[in-house]
Amino acid sequence: SMIDPKLEKALNAQVNKELQAWYSYLSLAAYCKSINFNGFGAYMETHAREEQAHAHRLMNYVLDRGAQIELQSIKPPKMEYDSLVEVFEHALEQEEQNTRAIYELYELAKEVNDYSTVAALQWFLDEQVEEEKVMTEAMGLVRFAGDDKSAMLALNQQFGAQAATAVEE
Ligand code: FEO
Repeated sequence: SMIDPKLEKALNAQVNKELQAWYSYLSLAAYCKSINFNGFGAYMETHAREEQAHAHRLMNYVLDRGAQIELQSIKPPKMEYDSLVEVFEHALEQEEQNTRAIYELYELAKEVNDYSTVAALQWFLDEQVEEEKVMTEAMGLVRFAGDDKSAMLALNQQFGAQAATAVEE
């Protein structure tokens, strides 16, 4: 392959991380729905679909470079949450971890002088800026609503409406 073996391995590991994030968002969606917050559930499902799309995008990049894809197993995600605040904190933390993972990948691509991969990773860096922004705002609103039941119900409805628009797009 044209790709440095170390980088090829790291790109495959990132495909797995995106799928791991997909699985985690499914778990967050399931939790929200299990406590009847279907708007938040739908919102988490749109994020799950985005993570799946990231995995596909990266996988296709690896294949375009004539490198090998090796799909690894996906671990069961955390399934128990104590509150909606914890759900959103978990989602944000996961996005922050993923940003750090993309940074490491970017550094490695630079180290082995693979400028095509550096360029391809720029899309993922921009995407992480957007995702961290969106999830920071969402987490802030949910944290602010806190114990106020009517505020939380209003947010649930708002997030559900937002998710429905995202599906149409
Ligand atoms: Fe694929 Fe949210 O990072």
